[in-house]
Amino acid sequence: MLSTIAFSNHKGGTGKTTSTINIAAVLRNKGKRVLVIDLDPQANLTYSLGVTGVDATVQDWLIGHSGLDECLIQTEGLSLLPASVSMVNSEDVLKKIPNYSFSLKNKLSQLDYDFVLIDCPPAIGSLTRIALTASDYVIIPMLLEILSIQGLSQIMKFIKDIKITSNPSLEILGVLGVCVNESRKLTSEVLGFIDFAYKVDVFNNRIHNNVKAAEAPSFAKSVIDYAPECTSTKDYKAVTDEILKKIEFSKTAYHIN
Ligand SMILES: Nc1ncnc2c1ncn2[C@@H]1O[C@H](COP(=O)(O)OP(=O)(O)O)[C@@H](O)[C@H]1O
Ligand SMILES: [Mg+2]
Repeated sequence: MLSTIAFSNHKGGTGKTTSTINIAAVLRNKGKRVLVIDLDPQANLTYSLGVTGVDATVQDWLIGHSGLDECLIQTEGLSLLPASVSMVNSEDVLKKIPNYSFSLKNKLSQLDYDFVLIDCPPAIGSLTRIALTASDYVIIPMLLEILSIQGLSQIMKFIKDIKITSNPSLEILGVLGVCVNESRKLTSEVLGFIDFAYKVDVFNNRIHNNVKAAEAPSFAKSVIDYAPECTSTKDYKAVTDEILKKIEFSKTAYHIN
């Protein structure tokens, strides 16, 4: 059964794009058929997978300007629906589609994958709305710093709104600590605060600060392929196993109810 996961946070630079690519690559290595969707007009995910000169974006597909075969790109063993800066007009363009919130959900229901991973822009707007409406789960990548908590409250409010208006079954899989330095006292304090104030799951596994993760996009690769033995690869493998367990648990719990 298809699982769709959005990576979202109101703030930029929290590891959304890096986590989308690397978790996708781990799932691919497990033999899963994975589609990654770049919904950020900055197109970092698209570039990080070595794709440039995009003619047809995911937005062109959503509004019916392009067919799926014109947009879909096969790269690094993944299927990619790419973005480009042309998507900066998304607020105007998407809202012209009747019931635009459901546009991605409706299109995805026609596709055959094991996992769809959506990289959201660092903003709460139409693109994030269609992503969260189309998703079964959302992961919130976050730097474990005091200022990040402000971003967390905004995205949590938005998720609540999406659950009320367009996707009651959306589940927060957890907050994912990224660029973590375990030796900092602040890290455990922030984790404690998130747990106390938001009652939201935090992944047991975290992504540690590691230069290989930052280097990999320059080689148009996931860190999994660029540096298979490095800490980031190990971290992303562990997080992906945790994700799969949580999804399995969530689906079983759903059947019992
Ligand atoms: N584990 C990590 N260690 C070091 N740098 C990282 C790590 N993860 C991401 N980065 C770097 O941090 C920056 C922000 O990450 P990115 O995934 O682009 O965030 P976002 O998509 O949320 O804006 C990028 O330059 C990326 O290469
Ligand atoms: Mg990004």
